[in-house]
Amino acid sequence: MATGELLLQIERVTKRFGGVVAVSEVSLDVRQGEIVGLIGLNGAGKTTLFNCITATARPEEGSIRFGREGFREQLVGLLPHQVVECGVARTFQNIRLFANMTVLENVLVGLHTRTHAGLLEALADRQHSRREERWAHDRATALLQLFDLAPKASHLASSLAFGLQRRLEIARALASEPELLLLDEPAGGKAFAKAAHCRFCESCAAIAAKDFLARPAFGGCPGQVPP
Ligand SMILES: Nc1ncnc2c1ncn2[C@@H]1O[C@H](COP(=O)(O)OP(=O)(O)OP(=O)(O)O)[C@@H](O)[C@H]1O
Ligand SMILES: [Mg+2]
Repeated sequence: MATGELLLQIERVTKRFGGVVAVSEVSLDVRQGEIVGLIGLNGAGKTTLFNCITATARPEEGSIRFGREGFREQLVGLLPHQVVECGVARTFQNIRLFANMTVLENVLVGLHTRTHAGLLEALADRQHSRREERWAHDRATALLQLFDLAPKASHLASSLAFGLQRRLEIARALASEPELLLLDEPAGGKAFAKAAHCRFCESCAAIAAKDFLARPAFGGCPGQVPP
């Protein structure tokens, strides 16, 4: 895939759980627009590496730096929501949607880092907060359309079939307009191809854990998946 400026720089990251070394001195660079497949046996440490990048696990050693030249930040030590604000979004191996919220609401949650109106702002400037609400609604709807989920917008997330839940997770992750998207076993080339090429993430880089990027049918490039 096209490569641009260095975006993610992982250097000698090690994460242990007691005596288990889940990730051992991993180094990896990801450039803007690049799509990287993270391939390994069960238990190799793929999910743990994602957890280290997104601050849900803290590595004992190593450095994870993210961002453009001059603005690159150390992610180790940040909180998960701060990592999202830096421009990293992810999906989970075991899907984690807000089961009792609707499909639309799940995407709206993903958009919250891009909106600013809190309670006080809403009281002080109702027009502005209404405009922002409309913007968020339109953007969420566009994402749902992209993933063919618009007809299900008012359904509870828990009512969706497994494959649709996966797609919804990707849509929610993209709502935060990430520069780097981490997909833990996306398991569906079509949804991934849309994620990788949709206009919401033209310059987005992605790392996908597991094997599908390596399958010959995908030619190593999700862009080759028929739409
Ligand atoms: N919270 C934890 N506590 C203890 N051990 C853990 C924890 N998380 C992961 N591990 C261990 O770390 C190792 C790496 O696990 P991880 O889930 O990252 O592998 P993986 O490559 O994602 O595997 P899979 O392909 O099955 O998803 C495994 O030995 C696992 O048992
Ligand atoms: Mg895993």
